[in-house]
Amino acid sequence: MDTPVQIIDQTITPRQLKGFVGFSNLPRQVHNKSIKKGFQFTVMVVGESGLGKSTLINTLFNTSIYPNKEPKEPTNETPKTVDIQTITADIEENGVKLKLTIIDTPGFGDYINNENSWQPILENIEARFDAYLEQENRVNRKRLIDTRVHACVYFIPPTGHSLRPIDIEFMTRLHHRVNLIPVIAKSDILSDEEIKSFKSRILEDIAYHNIQIYQPPIYDNDDAETIQENKDIILSMPFCVVGSDKPFKVGNKNVRGRKYPWGIIEVDNPEHCDFVKLRQMLIRTHMEELKEYTNEVLYEKYRSQKLISSEVANSNDTLNPLSQLDEERRKHELKMKKMEAEMKAVFDQKVHEKETKLKQSEDDLLAKYKEMKEKLEMDRINLQERRRQAERGGRPGTPEKKGRKFFK
Ligand code: GTP
Repeated sequence: MDTPVQIIDQTITPRQLKGFVGFSNLPRQVHNKSIKKGFQFTVMVVGESGLGKSTLINTLFNTSIYPNKEPKEPTNETPKTVDIQTITADIEENGVKLKLTIIDTPGFGDYINNENSWQPILENIEARFDAYLEQENRVNRKRLIDTRVHACVYFIPPTGHSLRPIDIEFMTRLHHRVNLIPVIAKSDILSDEEIKSFKSRILEDIAYHNIQIYQPPIYDNDDAETIQENKDIILSMPFCVVGSDKPFKVGNKNVRGRKYPWGIIEVDNPEHCDFVKLRQMLIRTHMEELKEYTNEVLYEKYRSQKLISSEVANSNDTLNPLSQLDEERRKHELKMKKMEAEMKAVFDQKVHEKETKLKQSEDDLLAKYKEMKEKLEMDRINLQERRRQAERGGRPGTPEKKGRKFFK
């Protein structure tokens, strides 16, 4: 028998411990476990060729993740589709291991007709969701391999105008599937004024088209410093970035940057570009947040849409194999009955035609027989009549002659 659940109205009183229990060590337990397991992060980069995607990724992770590129051979062939390439690197910093996956999308925006160039990218992101969903549905779900895209860095060319139709199309199509982080590529070629007005026009376009870009959440219970940091990050979006791993000597310190006749643009100097803010958000402070948002919001939404659509499909199409067999047998029987009825109709038709034909020839024969019979009867009557006449008036010795004359 079920015991009724008793709801006890109890107020929770904070208690002071009299000695050390040990649960204050919980964060350390989580920390140690996470360090042992290692971390994993997947980032996608999208933008036209030559916008500095590989340079920026190498600059972000301070290592040569991208293999040295071979200079491209001139070719007459025009590639037609966006190619998707994956690069994986195991990197380590202060004993913390990170398995980093970079998904590159060469070819995006490089053609004369770039219509639907967002499609293979969206398909790739959804295929990764599908792979995760498939693992979740398995009986053994012990070691789920997460290949989902946690962030997509979208490179806007430094035109200084506003977003192009291809940028709007891409972001509108993908913002509900991935954390979008737009950046202004090669921003060192724009002046401060140009960057300022370019950023505000991009933000206007983003707001006008209801595009959702990733923004760090601000929680009330965060400390003042974190809140301020997050606000600064949000205010800097879309980040204007400069990529370079070339070291230069500025004063007595080594800096990474790009050299111009008028000076050096320092990558890691927040006065020169937003690279530091991008790195801070993507790696230092919000990597886990990006993964959590991917899992709890973006993937969850995709998962429920997928399950609802497959449920609808299933309700139309019975999944029970026995009833499927019954249905197939019923359909087969109906088909056989129809075929049988058609064959019978053809057979009946043929029989009817044959019978009609036979009846016709029987009637013909009967009519012929009647006609002949009547003729013979007439002949017989005539003969008898002549015989009687011959017997009455004929002379002896000349019957044949008379008869012959009679027959003419
Ligand atoms: P694809 O592999 O063809 O897609 O190119 P990509 O987008 O990866 O560009 P890549 O990083 O190979 O850079 C292309 C060129 O731009 C190289 O000569 C880089 O040195 C240069 N470059 C990269 N980042 C910047 C930058 O921030 N500013 C400037 N001015 N040049 C840059």
